[in-house]
Amino acid sequence: MFRVVVLISGTGSNLRALLQACTAAEYPAEIVAVGADRDASGLAHAAEFGVPTFTVNYRDHASREEWGAALSEQLRAYAPDLIVLSGLMRLLPAAVVDEWSPRIINTHPAYLPEFPGAHGVRDALAAGVTQTGATVIVVDSGIDSGPILAQERIAVAADDTEQTLHERIKPVERRLLIDVVQRIAAGEALV
Ligand code: GRF
Repeated sequence: MFRVVVLISGTGSNLRALLQACTAAEYPAEIVAVGADRDASGLAHAAEFGVPTFTVNYRDHASREEWGAALSEQLRAYAPDLIVLSGLMRLLPAAVVDEWSPRIINTHPAYLPEFPGAHGVRDALAAGVTQTGATVIVVDSGIDSGPILAQERIAVAADDTEQTLHERIKPVERRLLIDVVQRIAAGEALV
């Protein structure tokens, strides 16, 4: 079975959707572990689905590079065919990207290359755009700059707040992510 490790930092609602998708007999991937860079509440979803978890706490390491080395050590232990960043709010050091790319993808709550970075939803609102989107990309050494695997436009409502807009983006992210992981597990090339 196609082995997936998911990395999170937050509530893991997108992770939960992928965990749920993997319970379907015909879905060609399994999540073999969920990792976090902090004590993320989303790890509870993995526990509920009986999936092992690990935490490589960023604060326990002297540098991004040292944290990255410890993270890669955990990743190797699970021998993933694909790593999915789903709300990991941490830039991976180059050594981690080099080791795993292109078998590492990320979901982003904007229509890349529009609004890259940690605040895509807030930045779209601040820019006053009437539409934004959701994107799944291959992680490269840049910031949300890798090859686009899937994306979809989402309208911005005049009365949207960051929260209402983000909560409308997430279901689209989940659908795109579940479809992309299925395509990759079925053998579609990443780049
Ligand atoms: C998602 O929108 C993801 O794209 C962004 O952070 C959000 C994580 O949400 N990086 P959740 O933790 O999956 O609920």
